[in-house]
Amino acid sequence: MRSRLPRPEAAGGCNVRPVRELRDKVCVVTGAGSGIGRALALALASGGARLAISDIDPETVADTAAAAAALGAEVGHYQLDVSDRDAVARHAAQVIARFGVVNLLVNNAGVAVDKPVAALPLEDIEWLMGINFWGVVYGSTAFLPHLIASGDGHLVNISSIFGIVGAPQQAAYCAAKFAVRGFTESLRQELLLSGDPVKVSCVHPGGVKTGIARAARSNDRTSDELAAEFDRIARLTPERAAAIIVRGVQRDQARILVGADARAIDLIQRLLGAGYQRIAARAAAAQRDRADRVRPGGPAPPAPGRRRT
Ligand SMILES: NC(=O)c1ccc[n+]([C@@H]2O[C@H](COP(=O)([O-])OP(=O)(O)OC[C@H]3O[C@@H](n4cnc5c(N)ncnc54)[C@H](O)[C@@H]3O)[C@@H](O)[C@H]2O)c1
Repeated sequence: MRSRLPRPEAAGGCNVRPVRELRDKVCVVTGAGSGIGRALALALASGGARLAISDIDPETVADTAAAAAALGAEVGHYQLDVSDRDAVARHAAQVIARFGVVNLLVNNAGVAVDKPVAALPLEDIEWLMGINFWGVVYGSTAFLPHLIASGDGHLVNISSIFGIVGAPQQAAYCAAKFAVRGFTESLRQELLLSGDPVKVSCVHPGGVKTGIARAARSNDRTSDELAAEFDRIARLTPERAAAIIVRGVQRDQARILVGADARAIDLIQRLLGAGYQRIAARAAAAQRDRADRVRPGGPAPPAPGRRRT
């Protein structure tokens, strides 16, 4: 059967990937009050984009907006809870009313839960899925018609390296991030088939030094302990992560792996298949032992479902 998909060289007569110009494009970023979202907003502002940025925290997003405006960008900032379907639909209308067009949407807002399944309240899974999965679905579907209408749209969904491999204590997070990958890769293929002018990228960061661990829900770690443990393994700054994501968008990469750890874990998963799980479990145990050694009060008491080896 002959493929109906356009060949890459059809557009320009060669195999060089086009680099997408983001100057003057209207870019929407959720969860822009801190971490990767804030760094992305500022990277886009530096590149001359027009910004519609949001966060559930109105103060932090106002701060990002002020920093982006200081770089010369036109910025609208909004309070938005991405897990609220009607609010996301209203937000899409609000952005169109102000800017008239949307060229780039980054569904970035996210939270974490650090609990084993045996001690994981269903409410925590529902809370996390509401933000990390449904937030992405609401954003993608509310903005897709506008991205198509722009004639030059790009949808970017932030998954994680935990959208490629599972990890202990991260079942809820991994479930949401795997789901984001499945949703995003399917949508990219649908748009390739339909020929609608929207690119789609799924982003898989490894460890990035942000506040995500501090804000995570946990049974047996304080937010200080979670943050300290995370900072030991997270290698990349949010600014570097944002630069990699922007470059991936400009090159229309379907899968954007962020950081050497993400690239290494992705390779291990592809080489070992399901066999990666034994290695990952050993690495998690070693990391937990390291964290316990430096913990001021000694090892954390084992929480339900967290057996000491
Ligand atoms: N930091 C990492 O190592 C890492 C790794 C892989 C993936 N990610 C993903 O990157 C994205 C950004 O995370 P980050 O590390 O910058 O974390 P962060 O905590 O610094 O930023 C997340 C932002 O999302 C906002 N937010 C939380 N709930 C929200 C809601 N209901 N509606 C709107 N905004 C909400 C927070 O207020 C915060 O400003 C997330 O999707 C996260 O899962 C992060």
